[in-house]
Amino acid sequence: DFYIRGISRLGIPEIRMSDGPVGVHLSEPTVALPASIALAASFNTNLANKYGAAIGSEARSNNIHIMLGPGMNIHRALFCGRNFEYLGEDPYLAGKLASSYIFGMQNEGVMATAKHYAVNFQEYERHQVSSNLDERTLHEIYLPAFKRCVEEGKVAAVMTSYNLINGVHASQNDYLNNKVLKGEWGFNGFIMSDWASTYDGLACAKGGLDLEMPSAKLMNSTTLLPFIKNGTLDIKVIDDKIRRILTEYVRFGLLKNANIAKEYTFDKEKSRLVAINTAREGIVLLKNDNRFLPIDVKKIKTIAVIGPNGDPAITGGGGSSYVKSLHPISAFEAVKGEVGDNVKVTYAKGVSTGDKVPENFFDSFDFYTKDKNGNKTKGVYAEFYDNINLEGDIVAKITYDKLNITKNELGVKNISDENCSVRFTCYFSPKESAEYWVATAGDDGYRLFVDGQKKLESWKRQGEVVTKYHAYFEKGKEYKFVVEYFQSGGGAAIRLAAQKRVDKDEDRESLMSSAIENAKNADLVILSVGFNVDTEAEGLDRTFDLPFNQNELIKNIAAVNKNTVVVLNSGGNINMNGWIDNVKGLLQAWYPGQEGNKAVSEIIFGKTNPSGKLPVSFEYKPEDNPTFKSYWTKGKDLHVEFTEGIFMGYRFYDKSDVKPRFPFGFGLSYTTFVYGNMKTPVTTIKAGEKIKFSIDISNIGKMDGAEAVQVYVSDLKSSLPRPVKELKAFDKVFLTKGETKTLEFELDKDAFSFYDPEKHGWIIEPGDFKVSIGSSSVDIRHEFNIFIK
Ligand code: BGC
Repeated sequence: DFYIRGISRLGIPEIRMSDGPVGVHLSEPTVALPASIALAASFNTNLANKYGAAIGSEARSNNIHIMLGPGMNIHRALFCGRNFEYLGEDPYLAGKLASSYIFGMQNEGVMATAKHYAVNFQEYERHQVSSNLDERTLHEIYLPAFKRCVEEGKVAAVMTSYNLINGVHASQNDYLNNKVLKGEWGFNGFIMSDWASTYDGLACAKGGLDLEMPSAKLMNSTTLLPFIKNGTLDIKVIDDKIRRILTEYVRFGLLKNANIAKEYTFDKEKSRLVAINTAREGIVLLKNDNRFLPIDVKKIKTIAVIGPNGDPAITGGGGSSYVKSLHPISAFEAVKGEVGDNVKVTYAKGVSTGDKVPENFFDSFDFYTKDKNGNKTKGVYAEFYDNINLEGDIVAKITYDKLNITKNELGVKNISDENCSVRFTCYFSPKESAEYWVATAGDDGYRLFVDGQKKLESWKRQGEVVTKYHAYFEKGKEYKFVVEYFQSGGGAAIRLAAQKRVDKDEDRESLMSSAIENAKNADLVILSVGFNVDTEAEGLDRTFDLPFNQNELIKNIAAVNKNTVVVLNSGGNINMNGWIDNVKGLLQAWYPGQEGNKAVSEIIFGKTNPSGKLPVSFEYKPEDNPTFKSYWTKGKDLHVEFTEGIFMGYRFYDKSDVKPRFPFGFGLSYTTFVYGNMKTPVTTIKAGEKIKFSIDISNIGKMDGAEAVQVYVSDLKSSLPRPVKELKAFDKVFLTKGETKTLEFELDKDAFSFYDPEKHGWIIEPGDFKVSIGSSSVDIRHEFNIFIK
């Protein structure tokens, strides 16, 4: 799964990989950094470099040669379950941060992988959906981050995406892989497939794929040699793949020494610091009524931390990026630590997060099968079909001793564990009359029927998803359980269990009422709300509404305590209607990593001045987003037309009457920054020339702080419609109170060009351009014009 086989005869070592992009994903705990979207919110390339280095360093100390990150798919649809793994809506911001991350990581001697190439923007039907878009939109919005990773970051590997692009799978997309990536951008590294996203070995071989993952299922000697022999596939194509992979081995010194952990020390404390600093710089203060924050701890006696994310810590979203944290700190613990013993801190969960089952839930299996004579044996009976629809003949029958099986155990002779369906049958006869939890988990789809009635369903291609329900079962009575399941590519798992219900504390009404009681008695409420590894995760898209009745919770709490601050864990925007006007403060904490909740409480109590800015526009409602109507389509012909073209995110809101609630680049500080003394030596340049300018930023407030200064460029007249303005430079500056620093910027030809689909390339049209320097995309402090001859 995560190795490239070695060939000892040739002195080629075995090469190991691990998932990123927010830490090293191992079975044991490692440093969990804040989600990539938090890094994007820092607008800090130096930090991105350190972030990449921290992960690279820990990978190296574990003898991991290739890290599967960074992720840089553009945030197009707010529902995408993996937005937290990516770097926001702007291609320049994403590209700059990703290439700095790569630089930091590869400097530690570990290869980085830019993923997922390309135009992957939803998890729903991720293996089937085609992103259909025009050439200009592709090159202006969805490819620049990858291009920068190749040209500036010198990334070693690129991973293709699951989705198709204009009807062609990414793993065999000749245009994207051969023509653009290896051709136009001159990429010398290797292209690997995402896990089980190959469909046709010959097409992959010709379409630029160098390494099939997780194994050589379709690109191997048996499948490809006949094509080489009959002249359909030139051996040079294979040579090129080998050369690309080995070139990177040589570049990273692996042919000389693959034991990269040897004599290498990982500085864990340094990485922990990078993790917490990313949270400090990435958390965005979105609302602060009458400067309610920061709170002077001397003026309060009681704090109520409320919400399902308050304890234990929610450090990251779910899926392959998830890292078991070394030292997770919850919001509740962090607040207690910050305020000391003189302030009473209470915690109430407020809502039931019902669907979660304990980790060992599926270990016990109290079901049995029956033979013709009614003899019972513990286990479950399975009937296999060689398609994903339980159609046609049963091709195999097998009995398992429990229904808790993963890919390896699913293997049945002559049946593909990538394309099959199974009907499992078993019986349950409880030893005790009681209320039971029944849970099913599956990767991919499943349905549970009890005595012929459908009770649970998640019938789609997905990473492992757990659902559960509770019901009263009578002692001695026999219940028939049937689980229908299909498996289609990638990982596989299917599980079933029933256990007596003991979790009385999940009683919804009492959870809510004790939270309200705590809130009534507190001087300050910190509402720690959001998603978790089950509700925002790879393999599924998320809702706009907070799950588990949290909207209601916020409304109820804000109604009884005016001093309420909301701290949000999510990869992006959520529905704030109905409560945003009634809370004093709102902190977008994304997924803050293992110790990021410390940063949250430092911000609330004024030890840290927030400096994160939104790397994505936050709309009032999903319908305001120009991609809303072209998010996903149902039916056989799964494709999404990118009807908004290049006008996505602030590129849309800038020209529209529809405005976002919180715009791109926005974030509050406790201090005030003044922009002045803008100097530009020239006002006219020739096409292709660079321009330099400088501006002074002063901190005139009462607190040290940092400002993310943003530079946007507008083409005042162009032959094709262009966005009102586009981010073309940014810098993060730290200023003690009263301090002024001069920032210097340089804009090169890329800042003024657009992609001309007729010429199939980037061009600059001479004429007037405007450069705007601002604190957000809607808070422009200085402008000047430049004429390009
Ligand atoms: C994900 C990749 C990941 C790979 C290996 C895939 O399902 O899309 O991002 O690197 O699995 O875990």
